[in-house]
Amino acid sequence: MRIDIISIFPEFFGVLDISLLGRARQAGLIDLDVHNLRDFTHDRHNTVDDTPYGGGAGMVMKPEPWGEALDSILPAIGDADAGTPEPAGGPVLIFPSPAGEQFTQAMARELANEPHLVFGCGRYEGIDQRVVDHFAARGRVRLVSLGDYVLNGGEVAVMAMIEAIGRLIPGVVGNPESLVEESHEDGLLEYPSYTKPASWRGLEVPPVLLSGNHGAIATWRRQQQIERTRLVRPDLLPAEDDADLQPPANSKARRAARG
Ligand code: ADE
Repeated sequence: MRIDIISIFPEFFGVLDISLLGRARQAGLIDLDVHNLRDFTHDRHNTVDDTPYGGGAGMVMKPEPWGEALDSILPAIGDADAGTPEPAGGPVLIFPSPAGEQFTQAMARELANEPHLVFGCGRYEGIDQRVVDHFAARGRVRLVSLGDYVLNGGEVAVMAMIEAIGRLIPGVVGNPESLVEESHEDGLLEYPSYTKPASWRGLEVPPVLLSGNHGAIATWRRQQQIERTRLVRPDLLPAEDDADLQPPANSKARRAARG
């Protein structure tokens, strides 16, 4: 997958050199480039913002540097000024914004199948709306929110999205089975996990996990998932009852329950 990021703080993304995603980049699974928006300004101060039309607090990001930056990344097309559509299957352009649609595991899965993502990190009071409107007329544009709170800019949101998307790209996570039994993958929160020692500071590992009975373990884990979800995220549960809360068809739990 190819990923381009535009930001006035490119150094924010240095952490993408390390850990799982750093290894994925070294292995050629992710081809990532960070672009400094200020490189697309032409004044002495590399100005990227200005006061809002209509008044109000804060500053708004100017459209011209964004236009130039995005034109330099998007595939060459007929006439950028006329807003000619991108060829089908062009990149998905994502603007993190508290006014966007909610980022979810389902969206991460969908975006992990894309060959090219472009992230535009806004700051201040946001980006001139015409940038979104212009590029929406040329290709696929999504405003995406991490959650119902306000960050200082899109950088942290983009980091979170790239981590969630990147780990779903085949080959990035060593054991793909570990992706199946995670919180949100089957609409429920994950069950609690334990490792050695069996007793620690007076706290014991639930005996069923030491029983060797894989069916009983699968049932216990499923109950824990449902209980946890009901307690902290009841909004994730189906409206009716729990009758449909089966482990995902290809999960270890389902296979173990089948015996
Ligand atoms: N930028 C500022 N706040 C944000 C949020 N909650 N999600 C995504 N981008 C943002």
